[in-house]
Amino acid sequence: MNAEYKKIVAQINQWDHEYYVLDTPSVSDTEYDQAFRKLLTIESEHPELIILDSPSQRVGAKPIDDYVKIEHSSKMLSLANAFNLDETYAFFEKAAKDLSTNVELLELFSEPKLDGLAISIHYKNGLLSYAATRGDGQIGEDVTHTIKTIKSIPIKLVTTNPPEKLDVRGEVFMPTSSFIKLNQQALKDNSKIFVNPRNAAAGSIRQMNPTIAAKRDLQFIPYSIGEYVGELKFTYHAEILNFLHQLGFRKNPHCYAFKGSYENFKNNYEVMEQHREKLPMDIDGIVYKINSLTLQTALGFIARSPKWAVARKFPAQNNVTQLLAVDFQVGRTGVLTPVARLEPVFVGGVTVSNATLHNMDEILRLGLRIGDSIEIQRAGDVIPKVVKVISTGKHRNPIIMPDYCPVCNSPVERTEGQAAFRCTGGLTCSAQGAERIKHYASRKFMNISNLGAKLIELLYSKGTLNTIADIYKIKIADIADLEGQGIKSAQNVLDSIEASKSTKLSTFIAALGIHEVGEEGAKTITKYFTDIDSIAKAAPEDLIKIPDIGPVMAKNVVTFFNNEKNKAIIKEIIAAGVHWNSEQNASAEAHLLTGQTWVLTGTLEHLSRNEAKALLENLGAKVAGSVSKKTNFVVAGKDAGSKLSTAKGLGIEVLDETKFLERFHLVL
Ligand code: IVH
Repeated sequence: MNAEYKKIVAQINQWDHEYYVLDTPSVSDTEYDQAFRKLLTIESEHPELIILDSPSQRVGAKPIDDYVKIEHSSKMLSLANAFNLDETYAFFEKAAKDLSTNVELLELFSEPKLDGLAISIHYKNGLLSYAATRGDGQIGEDVTHTIKTIKSIPIKLVTTNPPEKLDVRGEVFMPTSSFIKLNQQALKDNSKIFVNPRNAAAGSIRQMNPTIAAKRDLQFIPYSIGEYVGELKFTYHAEILNFLHQLGFRKNPHCYAFKGSYENFKNNYEVMEQHREKLPMDIDGIVYKINSLTLQTALGFIARSPKWAVARKFPAQNNVTQLLAVDFQVGRTGVLTPVARLEPVFVGGVTVSNATLHNMDEILRLGLRIGDSIEIQRAGDVIPKVVKVISTGKHRNPIIMPDYCPVCNSPVERTEGQAAFRCTGGLTCSAQGAERIKHYASRKFMNISNLGAKLIELLYSKGTLNTIADIYKIKIADIADLEGQGIKSAQNVLDSIEASKSTKLSTFIAALGIHEVGEEGAKTITKYFTDIDSIAKAAPEDLIKIPDIGPVMAKNVVTFFNNEKNKAIIKEIIAAGVHWNSEQNASAEAHLLTGQTWVLTGTLEHLSRNEAKALLENLGAKVAGSVSKKTNFVVAGKDAGSKLSTAKGLGIEVLDETKFLERFHLVL
């Protein structure tokens, strides 16, 4: 069995190598799948046989909790940049001078500059031992668990005579087409969109969970070695790349060796510009290196970059077009983002008709008006940028933030000190709908365990769920009829909705997703306002009096409860049976006054009688209507009458309003 198992492992590794490294698959998908299934069957029946380089082990690693720091075997350097031909040539003229030779005699090696993230991968006696990000060049983060999922990285080097130690340096990237697919899916799933393939690659590698990285199409191409302990001696950089290819790594396409004449640099750039368009991955320039390793050592480094290599960067791809209109898109959190509608223009290989403008401050900074001619830039990003106004239009129209949300027509507001304008529609704005429902039902808030994000999306798209109140109207058939669901799972959802109905007021308030009112904020508010009606009626001044509640949070709460539609939704939810009781709501502090009886008399200036009562009750006190021997404290406001004199007569401690407020740290 062991021999058969090892044969299958070797066979699949060979097929992976052909497919992912050499781009020449030799088997059909069916044959591959059959072998893989057989491998998994053997491994599940004989787990003792599993070997490190089994293809099943690429995703076998457990998610990590935190990144472990790794010190690099030698510094991971960056490159000096050159932005044109003259700068490139001058760089090597200087290097030649330092070497007392002529630049035209220097042998150079050119490679595409891959736009991804730098990784160092360590092999001990031919087996992948760990991998790290570049970090600050000296110390990186351990990403072995995600790096192992990349099929073009061998777990075991393809050789019978592996070096004792090898530190392979190279770039992890995501091919452009895979990046586009990933974002298209993310749009459908309402999950995170990546701005460019580089971020997508970095985000995938820096995942705690390797199964997510395994689903992404990531690739690796080496460009140097950081440490090597073995028998071979290398003379040229190109030899190292060939050596790495023999060990099972991919080769960077379109590498050239040439002598350093001005003409050669010029031709090389022109050739590479043409290849660039057709390459399956983003490249942001060309790296030129002196091929001789002896000369590299002789030149050494300056600061963080070698004196023997330079990156000639491609210019960002720009073009000029006209701004036709600006629309406002409402995001999942209610933020309105201005989007430029453009006269279609060809930039960086694609036709562009939209560009983001980020926010109103950006529009102001650009001095942009509708009708202007503007410069558009695309640097591998999905969404192109507006760089500047080239010339102002004849008929210019200002760009105005709408007063009302283009989706739900609720007023739009800007929080002081923030760039963003937000729709105040809250629960009723359909642009925010599904997200609000997910937030509400999530484990941290209403904890409706069987109503997960995917199901919410589905029910939202079918129109079963429009607002959080609709959760309580879901019927068995609404779920049972969905693909992949049945009566049983539908019943589970309804059961968990039922079970979630008993909650705490603070949890419910936080679940509403009022902007900036999180768990802590909600807890603080409900300590002072023990029922939802008093929260709904509170004025900003009332809320600001609560310690830790600032003017922004106070305003957001008031705006939320001033919205009639929001109020109607809450009413529906309560009518559906969602409830809380003050005991459950009581926090540890709430027992501070347990057993005490307080009496309020006279008019308080800063708090209403009800608020003062709520505050005391929330801390565990009983608030009585008349003074007796059992009374512990009397709070006397202005024009207090007989209750005050009775208290004095009985020797009961009397607090005026200031003392009362101070006692509970209420800052006014
Ligand atoms: S050589 C000592 N070659 O560019 C020189 N780097 O700006 C080490 N990069 O951190 C780098 N393609 O992540 C080299 N063919 C290539 C490259 C390349 C992409 C990245 C690399 C490096 C950055 C420097």
